[in-house]
Amino acid sequence: MAIGYALVFSFKARRYEPEDDPAIDALLMKSLPGYDGRERWSWMHKNGPLGFHGSEGDIWVAESADESLVGYYGRIRYSMRCFGRTVIASQGLNLATDSKFRKHGIATQLLGSSLRDAKKNGICLTFGFPNRLSYPLAIKQGGHDMGEAGELHLVLDREPYLNSRQIGPFRKTLRRTELALLGAGQSRHATERSSDRLEPMQGFAKDIDSIWISIRDKFDLGLERALPYLTWRYDRRWGDYRTVSLAKEDQTCGYIVTGTSIKRGLKVTTIYELLARGDESRTYETLIESAIEGSRSEGSTYMTVSASSSEGALRSLGRAGFRKVRWGARYVTFPYEECLRPRMECARAYQSLGDRDYL
Ligand SMILES: CC(C)(COP(=O)(O)OP(=O)(O)OC[C@H]1O[C@@H](n2cnc3c(N)ncnc32)[C@H](O)[C@@H]1OP(=O)(O)O)[C@@H](O)C(=O)NCCC(=O)NCCS
Repeated sequence: MAIGYALVFSFKARRYEPEDDPAIDALLMKSLPGYDGRERWSWMHKNGPLGFHGSEGDIWVAESADESLVGYYGRIRYSMRCFGRTVIASQGLNLATDSKFRKHGIATQLLGSSLRDAKKNGICLTFGFPNRLSYPLAIKQGGHDMGEAGELHLVLDREPYLNSRQIGPFRKTLRRTELALLGAGQSRHATERSSDRLEPMQGFAKDIDSIWISIRDKFDLGLERALPYLTWRYDRRWGDYRTVSLAKEDQTCGYIVTGTSIKRGLKVTTIYELLARGDESRTYETLIESAIEGSRSEGSTYMTVSASSSEGALRSLGRAGFRKVRWGARYVTFPYEECLRPRMECARAYQSLGDRDYL
């Protein structure tokens, strides 16, 4: 009888140090197909609205005995509305182990150590959208599954859209996506709108914070949409972002941020932000119509909404013809206060838009 002895690989998990940057870059480059390079990594982690806290435990690395970097886990911080309070939350972004050293517990240890650090550092909640490989690890570490993070689609050009869904793993979603039919035309309110002023603009109006403040209590969990966050998130170095605001009597009453990209060979318009003062459906409808018009003229095959939205926005998106399509990822949270755990079960709107596109 042959007896197998497992080879024990020895490694050490520790907090990030600034000298790790080149090795992190090399590891992410070979482990993550969607990795966009060091400059973007630095922007995400170091330029965020709440500053860089890598060495305080927001970033963890694993080192082998010869001190090469074999594992990485990074989070970024945000200000988040959480059941009526404003708290510090963090989003877990990239978790990666060198392919030569997988299944030795490296990612498990990085995740565990960094979650314990987050708790000590006054972070109230960590969240993420783990993929098929990292999901079991997240759940074993006590992550709470909030459900599937679906995506809303509006098909503008049906044939190329359906063709693109019929290959590989997307075959299964065909039945659902077939429901995402061509978008509605002008809504019944369209003719009443001559007094609304649509102001396409780069950047955000001075009163932009007040829009989120007017509706933030409709979200059980939602990132604070304040100016420092928005200007960082929609930095035009990283996307073809376009902001359109709707103003009335010198007050901004809503805004939409869209961007185009190529996904599986098709031109796609993504709605990253859609917010209306007071969750007003009329504002949403005007903004959505303008985005649909823009997408058609830019030749997009379909439109998509980046994450979940307020009730008012969802109603208006539904009326415009947007339909839910499976995305495959799930939204997982790690609440560090015990009292938050049961509340997660009944969270209503639990995320505002635009937060997972840079994974
Ligand atoms: C996902 C990923 C980070 C996991 O890294 P890892 O270091 O292999 O993870 P672990 O070793 O901690 O755990 C992986 C599995 O091995 C098991 N395992 C851990 N130690 C083990 C050991 N000594 N012997 C055998 N199995 C072991 C774990 O229980 C786990 O099993 P499960 O998947 O059934 O839960 C890695 O696969 C990776 O880098 N993938 C590519 C990038 C990616 O997709 N990242 C996730 C999203 S950003």
